[in-house]
Amino acid sequence: MALLFKSHLDDPEAWRRALLALEPDLDFRVWPETGARDEIEAALVWAPEPGDLARYPNLRLIASLGAGVDNILSDPDLPAEVPITRIIDPDLTRQMSEYALTQILRFHRRMDDYERQQRAGVWRVLAQPLTAERRVGILGLGVLGSDLARKLAALGFDVAGWSRTPKEIEGITGFTGEEGLEGFLTGTEILVCLLPLTPETEGILDKDLLAALPEGAYLVNCARGEHLIEKDLVAALDEGRLAGAALDVYRAEPLAPDHPFWAHPKVIVTPHCASVTTPASSAPQFLDNLKRARAGRAPSNLVDPSRGY
Ligand code: NAP
Ligand code: GLV
Repeated sequence: MALLFKSHLDDPEAWRRALLALEPDLDFRVWPETGARDEIEAALVWAPEPGDLARYPNLRLIASLGAGVDNILSDPDLPAEVPITRIIDPDLTRQMSEYALTQILRFHRRMDDYERQQRAGVWRVLAQPLTAERRVGILGLGVLGSDLARKLAALGFDVAGWSRTPKEIEGITGFTGEEGLEGFLTGTEILVCLLPLTPETEGILDKDLLAALPEGAYLVNCARGEHLIEKDLVAALDEGRLAGAALDVYRAEPLAPDHPFWAHPKVIVTPHCASVTTPASSAPQFLDNLKRARAGRAPSNLVDPSRGY
């Protein structure tokens, strides 16, 4: 039986090395060189072609190469009975918290203003908000959001989080569901999006949400581009209601050469690099799940397709 690898972003040879180092007999095939389709028992994928995963009659595991599974669940022909797993990995979590902390600290310490001052040759010390009074709000208190929340709280920030179900995290003010969203937003000066992309969260970062933030707030979106209504962000920045945005993800990736974000003076653009799955770190969980699937046991890091994440 064989493993099928399909991703236009991840390096198949790095994955082959990491997996074969642990299981030398693994039959590792890279899409579209699938060989006989009935020999494929597991698929390790990022953005598979819609309909493709339905073509392997003996498939018993679909493993996402990332934490997010929107690019798998969007396939209308997904085989319903095959379990889908995602990456939950300390290295992936650490990278995301590092990325978000970098952007949050940059805004908090007014580095964007100091960079503008430097370009104008201005020597002026700016008022610095107290860390304890700086409210950072995190949309999504899952694996990534909760790690970031704890690290921000350890640095002394006033931290709040929003989730679908209630969360108890020491030192974090929790808000839940539709009814909790407004209260969460009105106190949030630096907003970080770490939600999964689902029908409920698609387009959540729109003009109404941005208008509910205090004047001069900042946005950090490191979840999915489809969370953001891009023109609403540009309008909020241009009208001065928002002070800045750091974006790692976009509706169309790579970002088009003529996209207004590239040259916008209040936008930081990074190329979907906040947190990248490392084969050596994530290969063991995939092989463990393959063993479980072969033994008819439930894999770990299971996705709930009915929930969308
Ligand atoms: P996760 O553990 O599944 O956490 C998702 C969180 O969002 C949970 O707290 C969940 O609430 C909350 N949530 C989901 N739907 C909601 C809704 N409708 N209303 C309110 N809260 C909602 O996911 P994760 O591992 O932290 O990853 C989050 C996302 O980060 C991924 O889906 C992916 O899109 C993105 N990501 C981006 C990069 C990058 O490089 N830019 C890298 C990795 C991941 P409950 O706790 O109540 O379920
Ligand atoms: C990356 O975007 C991921 O979902 O892991």
